[in-house]
Amino acid sequence: MRMAFRFILPLLLVLGGIAWAAAPLVGTLIERWFRADVEMRSQLVFHSIEDTVTSLVMAQTDRKAGRRVDELFKRIAQDERLLALGLCTPDNRLNNRSAAWPKDLGCPMAPVSGTAFLVERLAEGAVLAASFALSVDGVNLGRLVILHDLSFIERRSSSAEYYLAGFLALLGLAAATVTAIVARLTLRSWLRAARKGLSAQGGGEGEDSGMAIEVAPLVREMRKMLRDLDVPRALTEAIRVDWGPESLRNLLRNELPDAEVLVVSNREPYIHNLEDGQVALQRPASGLVTALEPIMRACGGTWIAHGSGSADRMTVDGDDRLAVPPEAPAYTLRRLWLSDEEQEGYYYGLANEGLWPLCHIAFVRPTFRASDWEQYVAVNQKFANALVAEARTRNPVVLVQDYHFALLPRMVREKLPEATIITFWHIPWPNAEVFSICPWKEEILSGLLGSSILGFHTQFHCLNFLETVDRFLECQIDREHSTVRAGDNTTLVRPYPISIEWPPAALAAQAPVDECRKSVRLKYGLAADALLAVGVERFDYTKGIADRFRAVESLLEVHPECIGRLTMLQVAAPTRSQLAVYRDTQTEAEAVAEAVNARFGTDDWAPIILVPKHHEPEAVFTLFRAADLCLVSSLHDGMNLVAKEFVAARDDEDGVLVLSTFAGASRELLEALIVNPYDIRAMGDAIHAGLSMPLDQRRERMRLMREMVGENNIYFWAGRMLLDAARMRKRQHIERQIAVVSGKSATSIGAKRHG
Ligand code: G6P
Repeated sequence: MRMAFRFILPLLLVLGGIAWAAAPLVGTLIERWFRADVEMRSQLVFHSIEDTVTSLVMAQTDRKAGRRVDELFKRIAQDERLLALGLCTPDNRLNNRSAAWPKDLGCPMAPVSGTAFLVERLAEGAVLAASFALSVDGVNLGRLVILHDLSFIERRSSSAEYYLAGFLALLGLAAATVTAIVARLTLRSWLRAARKGLSAQGGGEGEDSGMAIEVAPLVREMRKMLRDLDVPRALTEAIRVDWGPESLRNLLRNELPDAEVLVVSNREPYIHNLEDGQVALQRPASGLVTALEPIMRACGGTWIAHGSGSADRMTVDGDDRLAVPPEAPAYTLRRLWLSDEEQEGYYYGLANEGLWPLCHIAFVRPTFRASDWEQYVAVNQKFANALVAEARTRNPVVLVQDYHFALLPRMVREKLPEATIITFWHIPWPNAEVFSICPWKEEILSGLLGSSILGFHTQFHCLNFLETVDRFLECQIDREHSTVRAGDNTTLVRPYPISIEWPPAALAAQAPVDECRKSVRLKYGLAADALLAVGVERFDYTKGIADRFRAVESLLEVHPECIGRLTMLQVAAPTRSQLAVYRDTQTEAEAVAEAVNARFGTDDWAPIILVPKHHEPEAVFTLFRAADLCLVSSLHDGMNLVAKEFVAARDDEDGVLVLSTFAGASRELLEALIVNPYDIRAMGDAIHAGLSMPLDQRRERMRLMREMVGENNIYFWAGRMLLDAARMRKRQHIERQIAVVSGKSATSIGAKRHG
């Protein structure tokens, strides 16, 4: 029934519409045909009686002649379609007329002499008057007028319209019925065939399904895949809602059941140092650690990292492991030891003098030494071996972190071909031109392409990477799906902007904002109403610390009313100090701070306070809460989590963020005051604008930024990558099944899919 309505009703409506639109046209056409017919008849009548009538008119004085005219007219008027005939004198009087000549009609005037036709509309209906001139030797004898009744034409054309509509309706009905029947039959047989195919697999393989037995496992797997792939989609839809440790755990449990999580990074999340003969715990200043640690707390697993602390060996067990976090152990930290030589070549050399300046546009020349490269290869292999040894399963989820381990993904892939390797590059990726400087570019690219997923902070970095791979490596790039196939492995290249935990653990024990403001001002000897801008960084040349001091100087120049009122408090953790360029960065920043202080400072006020010391997260959060403004002026930065931490620290929804356009965070924190750190004057103006911003605007901006960081938190970051990994594992599983059935290798099937 529903089918009938679906097919027939629309068809009838369409045909009805056609009939309705066509009917007047058909009527007009028919009327035209009849009229032409009538005109022709008039001519025939005229020609057949012309001579007779002419001679009778000439004998008009004869009464008999008049009667004969009447009789002639009467006889001819018997024709069904002839209404009447009339004879008009030259002065247009009606002399003779047949009986049916309309009473109110005189002698109709022909518009053109001769045989022109004139249609008159009378009360009785439509009449066609055909007027023919009568003459002999040029003498005008009057006109013969023949009237035709046209109402029959109208009658007939309206019945023609009626019949046409009826005919079309019947035609439509017939066509619709036939269509519906055929569609129904086709659908039925199609459904029967589909059901037969699928139910054969659900009902047991032994059944006679009519399907080749080899195809059976494939169909089953495909059905499973469809079911499975629906689940992550549902989860993705729920993604905006509350990503936290629990949802991440659920994701692992449901989508990657039994997956063993292994993280590898250079920097460890907990460092034990000997300070005054005591073991002190330090949480390093590292965006990578800030981001990954909450994930490991949520997921558990093993984190393999360089044990760099002076008391690290004292705090591990016999297998170089310890359970962390110390206050509530949730995962295992496996420490790996590096010799000075390894550390020198791999960490300071290739990673931090080569790759770091290569990837950051800060105009520091990268240095590449063959001896560093050898150490880099060796240390990557050392970590890869340790990771493989830690793995209890053949297909763990391996999270490889950063530029220290570009070769490790392929090394692990060789030993654990079924592992899901997710590599995240925490720093920018340069364009192909810049990357071509690296003497070992092919090895690095090939190493990274051992990963299942390769993540960057921004789409821009992904595109740079694809361009680089395209230029220097033999591979297949699928730009639509953003995958690269090199050798036997396919890598998904995607942006995953990193973030922080929400709410951050460091916020939990914080005093209210008012108290933080007071205590920090007191601690640094500032007036209670002092304006406070803060910066929290590692002493890295990419952070633009000296430039921000220059911006403060510019502000004081342009806005002298801020002298004595504004203080820039810069906390900077010394880092990679073994490298001259880092020591120089610190020296330069200290010199600029001193110069600005000397120029504008007074006995009881200094515009810049520089504290070159590591601060634990809680202390950093207190500074953020005390500040009126936070200044992040990186010359280039993958993301910069300090910006997001400042936003997270401000649960009072106040405070202004001034943020470099060259930090990845500026792509997300759109309500910050975005600055070009190379434009000192503009940066000074932005700081001033931030300090003068009305409260309601500060609140509005901070609220929006907090919303963004709260939603796109670190669990969301990890969740997206793990969901992609889960889908990938399922596809690989299916490909392996297909390979088993078809006798092809799984990789060749994968190659086809991705190629
Ligand atoms: C950046 C890098 C991290 C690194 C951090 C600190 O954020 O992306 O990999 O851990 O700097 O540097 P460090 O050399 O002290 O580990």
